[in-house]
Amino acid sequence: MAPQLTSFVSTKDLDLELVQQLFLRAEKLKRLRGVLSSHEKALEGDTVANLFWESSTRTRTSFQLAAHRLGAYVVNLNASESSVAKGESLEDTIANLRALGCRFFVVRHSVSGKVEQLAQNAGRGTSIINAGDGTNEHPSQALLDAFTIRERKKNFDGLQMAIIGDVVRSRVAHSNMYLLSRLGVKIRFCGPKQLVPEKFDVPNASMLESVDEAVKDADIIMVLRMQREREGRILSLSDEEYRKHYGLNGKRMALAKPDAILMHPGPIIRGMEVESDVADGPQSVILRQAENGLFMRMAIFEALRGDRG
Ligand code: NCD
Repeated sequence: MAPQLTSFVSTKDLDLELVQQLFLRAEKLKRLRGVLSSHEKALEGDTVANLFWESSTRTRTSFQLAAHRLGAYVVNLNASESSVAKGESLEDTIANLRALGCRFFVVRHSVSGKVEQLAQNAGRGTSIINAGDGTNEHPSQALLDAFTIRERKKNFDGLQMAIIGDVVRSRVAHSNMYLLSRLGVKIRFCGPKQLVPEKFDVPNASMLESVDEAVKDADIIMVLRMQREREGRILSLSDEEYRKHYGLNGKRMALAKPDAILMHPGPIIRGMEVESDVADGPQSVILRQAENGLFMRMAIFEALRGDRG
C-alpha cells in the first residue's frame, strides 16, 4: 500500500505506487468532469488557504477550483495584501490561519526550500502543498505533466523527451526530471550554456548543445520560459538570438517523431521560446496540461485528506 501523504513538497522521493494511484484517480475525476456528489467530496467543511507570494494564473486557479469541487472553503492571500507586508512572518500568518480552521496551505514562494521548511514545522493535521518554491520544485505541475504524457503515450518507459530553455531556474524542469526519470523517460536538456546545469543528479538525463539534436526523434518536447525575473544568471544572448538558437518553430518540431507532443507549463511567450503556429498546432498539448491540472490537484487534495478525522 502507498504511504499516507501528509504534505506535498517534492517529486524526488514521491512513492511511485502513490503516483500510479494519483494517475488513476485523476483519470476517474476527469471522466466525471470533476463533478462529485456531496458525500464524495473529501474536503467538505475543510478550509484551504492559497498563499501565493509570487504571481500565478494556472496554478492558483486550478488549486482553488479543485478545492471548491471537493467542497472546501478557499481563502486567497498574497504577500502585499496580507500582514506579511507589515512585517509578520509567514510562519505566524500560517499559525493564525490554522487558528481560523485552515488545514491545507497551498504555498508559492520565491525562496527555494521555504515550503519544505514550512512542511517540517507544520503541526499535526496540517498539510503544506508546494505550488512552486523559487527555482527548486513545482511538484503538482510535474504530476499533471506526467498525467498528460500518460494520456497520450500510455507508457513512460523508453520515451525520449527534450526539455529546452532556462533549465537551471525552472522548478518545473526540476520536478519533472525527478519524477519522469524514475518512470523511465530519457531526458535531453538543451539551452544556453548559462541556463543549463553542469551536471544532473538523476539517471537517464543528458545535455545536448544543439536544439535540432535534442528534438530529433523525440516523443515529447517541453519548452520553458526564460525566467528573467529571477536573478543569478546573466544571459549574453538577445531575444532575437535566443529565438534563432533555441526557439521552437515548425522546422524544428518536424525533426521530432511525427506523433510527438509539445508541452509548456505556461505562461508562454509567443515568438520567443515558441512560435504561435507550433504552440497552437495539432501536436500541442499545452491547454490540455492546464485542463488536467484541475483533476490532478483534486487527486492530490484527496490523497492528503486520506482518512484523517
Ligand atoms: C511556471 C512556474 O510558475 O513555475 N508556471 C506554472 O506554474 N504553470 C513556469 C513559469 O513561470 O515559467
